[in-house]
Amino acid sequence: MTAAAVDNLGSIFADPAAYADQPRWHATAKRIREESPILKVSLPNFPEFWAITRHADVMEIERNPEIFTNAPVPTLTLRANVDAVSKSPVKTLVQMDGDEHRAHRNIVNDWFKPANVKERQERVDELAKLYVDRMATMGGRCDFVNDVALHFPLQVILSILGLPEADHARMLKLTQELFGAEDPDIGRLGEDQSLYEVLLDFVSYFTALANDRRAQPTDDLASVIANARLDGQPLLDMDTLGHYVIIATAGHDTTANAISGGLLALIEHPDQLELLKARPELIDHAADELIRYVSPVRHFTRTCQEPFTLRDVTIQPGDLVYLSYASANRDEEVFPDPFRLDVRRENAASHLAFGFGRHFCLGAHLARMEVRALFRELLPRLEHVELAGEPTWIKAYFVQGPKSIPISYRMR
Ligand code: HEM
Repeated sequence: MTAAAVDNLGSIFADPAAYADQPRWHATAKRIREESPILKVSLPNFPEFWAITRHADVMEIERNPEIFTNAPVPTLTLRANVDAVSKSPVKTLVQMDGDEHRAHRNIVNDWFKPANVKERQERVDELAKLYVDRMATMGGRCDFVNDVALHFPLQVILSILGLPEADHARMLKLTQELFGAEDPDIGRLGEDQSLYEVLLDFVSYFTALANDRRAQPTDDLASVIANARLDGQPLLDMDTLGHYVIIATAGHDTTANAISGGLLALIEHPDQLELLKARPELIDHAADELIRYVSPVRHFTRTCQEPFTLRDVTIQPGDLVYLSYASANRDEEVFPDPFRLDVRRENAASHLAFGFGRHFCLGAHLARMEVRALFRELLPRLEHVELAGEPTWIKAYFVQGPKSIPISYRMR
């Protein structure tokens, strides 16, 4: 393939429909990794960006957060929306850098440390059992995404935040609308309403929540955030909201996609499925391999602040870089035979699905715990499982995964 042909392949990083065809997306990303691992991508509706596709290069950029900042936009954003996103009054951790980021991350960091997350094990196991039990009553057929995978992580994160079960359906819809914004079946874009309105829904919901927890603090995470102080002062309302929004959104669809994509990967690799069914003690280790393989967060972006040379390319101040976690996690330089799901892969935990460095996923321990809990409950009870129809995929280029996975199964 000529260099010119590779140049034309970069649209896969910004095309929601391209991500919906996973085998094709990965075949294209592989060619880009091999032939032009730092690829300049120019598309009509997006700011120009460098697609970073190799594991080592993604890490190198994340290792230099002063040079590659999350501001002004931390994910690929339509040119027409860049201004609005960068000036949004509600700012979350992923839009912050330097001292501001450190101070805000400290507010929630302790809550997500392994020892604290471990205290939720019992509740997470209970919820996993609830959904697997429910699957067992569904007559041997279900849509694994919409009947199981979407609900379990939402319940976990909302119960950690301390929200009542009656509000879960509303939260489910809001998080999906925020992340599935490019998908006409899910998002509100393309209708007369806009992404902005989804955010407004969040604002009104979480403002009420913060007011309630200030009046009557409990031991939930919503209270920790509502009553947090920065330099001795209460948080601004917009900052409080930012924390709620990132936790409610980042903690949900990501993990749901890891679980649904994980089951699909196991169905497609029957030897690995049988191995885990026979030896459930391998599931703890397998969780990272499933998360590597699925990589539900397809990318984040950074903006370069000073000239930086990576391989044979000098990235200039103002340049946007697109960190392709999905590609980095199939990098054959790090993961031998990367397209194969290998639940015993020794270095599975070296994946970059949770990012790296200062912005490393706050919820990584919780996410792993959820993936492990669900499969630990499900797999030993699953006598047989197969696809009962073609899976469909969400059309999105940020958090992305299966939209439906019809399965038929027999359970104990
Ligand atoms: C399998 C599931 C998950 C995946 C694949 C995932 C992935 C990611 C990635 C790639 C980042 C950006 C890292 C970087 O820039 O280097 C991130 C950040 C973040 N994640 Fe997750 N995540 C998952 C689950 C969760 C959960 C359960 C929570 C719970 C609240 C969570 C909360 C966050 C937060 C708050 C950030 C921002 C951290 C910061 O900017 O300092 N994530 N996640």
